[in-house]
Amino acid sequence: MKRLTADELRGKYVNFFVSKGHTQIQGKSLIPENDPTALFTMAGMHPLVPYLSGQEHPAGKRLTDFQKCIRTSDIDSVGDPSHLTFFEMLGNWSLGDYFKEETIKMSFEFLTSPDWLNIPLDKLGVTVFEGEDGIPKDDESASIWKSLGVTRISYLPREDNWWGPAGTTGPCGPDTEMFYYMGDAPCSADCKPGCPCNKWLEIWNDVFMQYNKNASGEYEPLSRKCVDTGMGIERTVTVLNGKSSVYDTEIFADILGAIEKASGVSYKSGAAGETDKSIRIIADHVRSSTFILGDPKAVSPSNVGAGYVLRRLIRRAVRHGRKLSANEMRLSPIAEVVINQFKEAYPELKENSGFILKELDKEEDKFMETLQKGEHEFEKLLPNLLKDPRKIMSGRLAFKLYDTYGFPIELTEELAAESGMTVNREEFEDAFKKHQELSRSQSGQAFKGGLGDQGEEAVKYHTATHLLHKALKIVLGDHVAQKGSNITAERLRFDFANDAPMTSAQIKAVEDIVNDQIRKNLPVSMETMGIDEAKASGAIALFGEKYEAQVKVYTIGASSSDFFTKEVCGGPHVERTGVLGSFKIQKEQSSSAGVRRIRAVLEP
Ligand code: ALA
Repeated sequence: MKRLTADELRGKYVNFFVSKGHTQIQGKSLIPENDPTALFTMAGMHPLVPYLSGQEHPAGKRLTDFQKCIRTSDIDSVGDPSHLTFFEMLGNWSLGDYFKEETIKMSFEFLTSPDWLNIPLDKLGVTVFEGEDGIPKDDESASIWKSLGVTRISYLPREDNWWGPAGTTGPCGPDTEMFYYMGDAPCSADCKPGCPCNKWLEIWNDVFMQYNKNASGEYEPLSRKCVDTGMGIERTVTVLNGKSSVYDTEIFADILGAIEKASGVSYKSGAAGETDKSIRIIADHVRSSTFILGDPKAVSPSNVGAGYVLRRLIRRAVRHGRKLSANEMRLSPIAEVVINQFKEAYPELKENSGFILKELDKEEDKFMETLQKGEHEFEKLLPNLLKDPRKIMSGRLAFKLYDTYGFPIELTEELAAESGMTVNREEFEDAFKKHQELSRSQSGQAFKGGLGDQGEEAVKYHTATHLLHKALKIVLGDHVAQKGSNITAERLRFDFANDAPMTSAQIKAVEDIVNDQIRKNLPVSMETMGIDEAKASGAIALFGEKYEAQVKVYTIGASSSDFFTKEVCGGPHVERTGVLGSFKIQKEQSSSAGVRRIRAVLEP
């Protein structure tokens, strides 16, 4: 086997797929664009959903990349040998080009060829979809694997061998997953993924995107079948180097070293129980937080949405730091190690390093104050709580800790668990709902992924967003740059750089300009061109965003020289502005320092 580092694996994977006619595209931001149902990019396919759903991609039909991902659904498993909230995913895609046979053959070649990963055949097992509800058993994939010499094949149900949609709607399909045997040799002749010996680790997933799950929960066949694959970098580096945990690879060596230095406690490769678990949690959460804060569309810790998830990651790391040692360890020196390690593959980390370190320090200070107060309160409550024979802490009490001391529910649950108690979560949620409008993250939704609703209404809002962006530049000045966009079927939300609140005259002027363009019933057209050419032609591109060499440019206006606005964008858009109706700004408010937020609707 090739003993590769993460840098080497990234390079090899992309080179392999480029040698098979794929174009390398840029991984995207961790904050999804125009996807109201997900807070973070949670798979390599996430930024590609419009293309997996039928749109043309400017770079062609065969694509490959590496993508930074956050998957907080796994947060409770972090600390075990293989789960992470931040990870990197390698991927290759076919947009209506190759399908099962070529996909599996390429995966097999990359995994087993001496020129590539050289994984021995007896360490490799795969799973395929066993079929359900009119969707047939995937004998085709199984027989392709067999023809290549793979014998350890399991048929598994939807729970295991179906991928997507990432949220409620979007492309999905059966998949075939590749596993590596972590022990010396499979435990018996029948040993295959799913075997109770529990030694098979999934490293790669080939998804055959054949269906679109619509808003009524039906699976509609996609007119164009696609392939989406994802290989986890951390896990693959683990198996290639004969390690038993992602934390024992070079990927984590420097980070763990920094934690050991700061805490004065040494890491024992998973042998030291709770201590090692805390060290792993800190390592994972500092990586996630560093990447979230280092993103071109960074959020700051807050009580809503992605900011709340970030806050939770930072605070959990701090708490485990305190559990680990009495040293006053800070997270920012550990983040510096992460920045240094990843600055070549993700230059945005270096560019934003000042912001990353400052925000970590700030949040840590804030939390220390909260913790001291909250823990003190909890200790006072404990003797009484322990009198309950069922060992259940009331949700109302947990809410009081949250409300009065800002003590996060997850931490109350952890403290309770340390004394063998659980918290009545339902009661907590009820109390919570009564006190404030729930953000998706706080109700737990944020920890699921999700994909945007590309319905007709959302498409209208997308075009309206382009009109708004341009109108803001006209009224407020060219410094207005998009900082975030979030669209549902009911409204648009647009964040942009501007120091001062807008006056009501400015709001009215922006509305008038947008409504004028709607009344003119301007055509919307799309062209593919080089990114430099796009910028030179006057197209708005997002500062700090990574673009492919070839991009799509949407023009709203009569022609490419006589237009109202042009933007580099993946689409989709309406054909003419006349269908948008009447545009109205409902709210203009502060979003964060130097960033304003507009909420607007289209009325019939
Ligand atoms: N989208 C697939 C996954 O994340 C490849 O597993």
